[in-house]
Amino acid sequence: MELLMLIFVAVIPVISDGLTVRGPSAPLVAPLGSSVVLLCYVDDPLPMEDLEVEWRRPDSETLVHLYQDGKSQTEVQQQDYQDRAHFFTDQIQHGNFSLRLDDLRTEDEGQYTCTVHSQQKSGETVVQINIDVVRLRVLGSDESISASVGEDVTLSCSVDSHFTPEHIDVTWKKTDENIQVLLYKNNEPVPDSADLRYRERVEFFTDEIPKLNFSLRLKSVRTEDKGVYMCEVFAGGLSANTTVELEQLGFSVSHIMVLILCVSASGSALLLCCLIYCRNQNGLTVTYSQNRDVQPGSSMVLKCYRVKPLETEDLKVEWRRKETLVHLYQDGESQTEKQQEDYQNRAHFFTDQIQHGNFSLRLDDLRAEDAGEYICTIHSKHRSVFSTQITVEKHFTMKHVQS
Ligand SMILES: *[C@@H]1O[C@H](CO)[C@@H](O)[C@H](O)[C@H]1NC(C)=O
Ligand SMILES: *[C@@H]1O[C@H](CO)[C@@H](O)[C@H](O)[C@H]1NC(C)=O
Ligand SMILES: *[C@@H]1O[C@H](CO)[C@@H](O)[C@H](O)[C@H]1NC(C)=O
Repeated sequence: MELLMLIFVAVIPVISDGLTVRGPSAPLVAPLGSSVVLLCYVDDPLPMEDLEVEWRRPDSETLVHLYQDGKSQTEVQQQDYQDRAHFFTDQIQHGNFSLRLDDLRTEDEGQYTCTVHSQQKSGETVVQINIDVVRLRVLGSDESISASVGEDVTLSCSVDSHFTPEHIDVTWKKTDENIQVLLYKNNEPVPDSADLRYRERVEFFTDEIPKLNFSLRLKSVRTEDKGVYMCEVFAGGLSANTTVELEQLGFSVSHIMVLILCVSASGSALLLCCLIYCRNQNGLTVTYSQNRDVQPGSSMVLKCYRVKPLETEDLKVEWRRKETLVHLYQDGESQTEKQQEDYQNRAHFFTDQIQHGNFSLRLDDLRAEDAGEYICTIHSKHRSVFSTQITVEKHFTMKHVQS
């Protein structure tokens, strides 16, 4: 009993002789890259002589900061913390031994002890840092995008995160060819970052950026735009991405060929210039333009063809302009008696080209009235295989006559 008493008495002074060191009442929660102040203080200021303050990480015994002999002993502290741990030397006289930790990293999560030694007395407090779980998710669209040449498309990319746009960098690139399409950096789009192929054709939706929507508008789609695009997002040392495929350019049930005939009236002389777009069913798009001047009375070929030749057996090719039959090929020959009289001499079908999948029609003796919509329909074994639509537009504009 007496022995027990003795021990009891011997222990008490050590405890009562300790310092009461205070710290934050709850774990500190902070996002990556930010700074936190790890509080550590005593209620009454301590004498400065022999004062020692040690900040450590108990799990690894890492020395985060040491104040000894009247100064911060930076050479003994772990190198990683030399630049990131800031001790408020001027606060010591007030009994404040807090430490600021800058540029928080994931590894900084955990416990920190602040041990204060003063005149044979010591005490400590434990500070817990929890790194805020930083979300960085990039959402795109699940479906691939189909588009036709000349159209504008939107490639989706939106960011789900706590970060604000000024802390986010975005790279849009075409991954199958590793071409840079557009960048968003330092809180603004970088138009010059675009590969020449995309220059002037790509942009972000400015109004959507504050909502972290970095979708890309790709204007006037070209055949070579087909492929896989990646939106890669960087924030707070993290990165995430989404990809979207631009495919089947020109895919549509009917082939559409647009032919624009600009008929310029200049006094007595007529000029026709043509611009032709052709969208092909196989995802292969052919764009051709004829910006040449076509004289009235001259000829023009309205193209209609298939990349893969069809079986010529049972083949029927019908060229119509609205209800008018411009030309009909059936039972192995042109059925001239069925076509509209006006076209009998002017519409020329290339019978020898059928085997190559070419069903084009040459229209001779062009007139301004030829403007309109032409549809080329191919039937095989009594069903329609595909059709091509051609719109011939005419624009009359005055031109200076040079005589
Ligand atoms: C200790 O100093 C730090 C840094 O200046 C300050 O943020 C904190 O509030 C101070 N704590 C006390 C208890 O004075
Ligand atoms: C992003 O902006 C584009 C263009 O306005 C829009 O089509 C798309 O729906 C937006 N995405 C989200 C997730 O809001
Ligand atoms: C894109 O994200 C996936 C995970 O979602 C990752 O595996 C891949 O490495 C990322 N690609 C690039 C180029 O960053």
